[in-house]
Amino acid sequence: MAKIILTGDRPTGRLHIGHYVGSLRRRVELQNSGKFDEIYIMIADAQALTDNFDNPEKVRQNIIEVALDYLAAGLDPEKSNLFIQSQVSELTELDFFYQNLVTVQRLQRNPTVKQELALRGFSDNEEENENKPGTPVGFFCYPISQAADITAFKGNVVPVGEDQEPMIEQTREIVRKFNTTYGKDVLVEPEILLPDNASCLRLPGTDGKAKMSKSLGNCIYLSDSAEEVNKKVKGMFTDPTHLQVSDPGHVEGNTVFTYLDAFCKPEHFAKFREAFIGKKSSFEFNSLDEVKAQYQKGGLGDSMVKNFLAAVLNDTLEPMRQRRHYYEQNIPFVYETLKKGTAAARAKAAQTLSEVKAAMKINYFDEGVLEELIKENEQKYPQSK
Ligand code: TRP
Repeated sequence: MAKIILTGDRPTGRLHIGHYVGSLRRRVELQNSGKFDEIYIMIADAQALTDNFDNPEKVRQNIIEVALDYLAAGLDPEKSNLFIQSQVSELTELDFFYQNLVTVQRLQRNPTVKQELALRGFSDNEEENENKPGTPVGFFCYPISQAADITAFKGNVVPVGEDQEPMIEQTREIVRKFNTTYGKDVLVEPEILLPDNASCLRLPGTDGKAKMSKSLGNCIYLSDSAEEVNKKVKGMFTDPTHLQVSDPGHVEGNTVFTYLDAFCKPEHFAKFREAFIGKKSSFEFNSLDEVKAQYQKGGLGDSMVKNFLAAVLNDTLEPMRQRRHYYEQNIPFVYETLKKGTAAARAKAAQTLSEVKAAMKINYFDEGVLEELIKENEQKYPQSK
């Protein structure tokens, strides 16, 4: 069976380092592994509209930002189809048929939907609460639309962050329901691909809050300058009990160490020893474990660890900044890339849609099918010639 990747992001802002370690870094590795037959990376503008319908301009503006972040991170238009969801109308047709295969109750049980509904504070009782509208139906049903996104491409590998797990599970259920109901193995069950490093599953914000999110103002963006990164790292949440350099410190729940777990590579120690230890210090670390041990014992200051983290982050982000700058200077190329990727995506989705309709026997006018239909109904209504 062909190995096909489908994944994507909502264009509601620039991508940050949480997106990067949660999924983007993996996508680039998979792309460059050469082990995949087709790769589709989707800018999910239609899904973004399900809770931003009143702010389409925000979504529109962020399409280019996400595209630039994708290219900056190393997605290569020669190897991956980057496309815009709303321009593939076949997806909404699939969505429409899948809606019959999912119950309202099942959607209500989807943990991510539950969480997001709570987060957005939609009202259960909008007649009595004028300022708080109820839940948009499109938003409530987005897991079904996401199943359409994945299955349209026969995607069997979906690299996403942990919060998307319930979506993939629900997609698998829809696939099974479709295949058993319509008697054909038309749709393919996808597998989720999560980061293998626990720190990358859900990178906390710079303030230590569970999630990095634009609305919380606790993000480090892939496009942040070195100065911005230095400043944000300096202000990061660490261990509130680590008051003096000599105090023993905690690394669990210490955001600076979580980021180091996610970003630090063995070569960073030799490369940044100086930035890390300062000219006067006698510290000589060769691994993150050694740094952690010293921090826990006491005698290692937050500012030193932060200097090291800033250097590690900037080392990771610098090539991305350079690539982003290059593509910012080549905007027509970026749109051409999206247009080409979207055309490829449409062709693929159209193929799947025609198989879906054939399995459901709603392909009345397909070649050969119409002739059969006429014959069938002529027999039903014997012709008096
Ligand atoms: N829900 C994803 C997000 O919030 C975006 C998305 C839409 C997606 N459709 C998808 C991801 C299909 C993976 C597969 O970022």
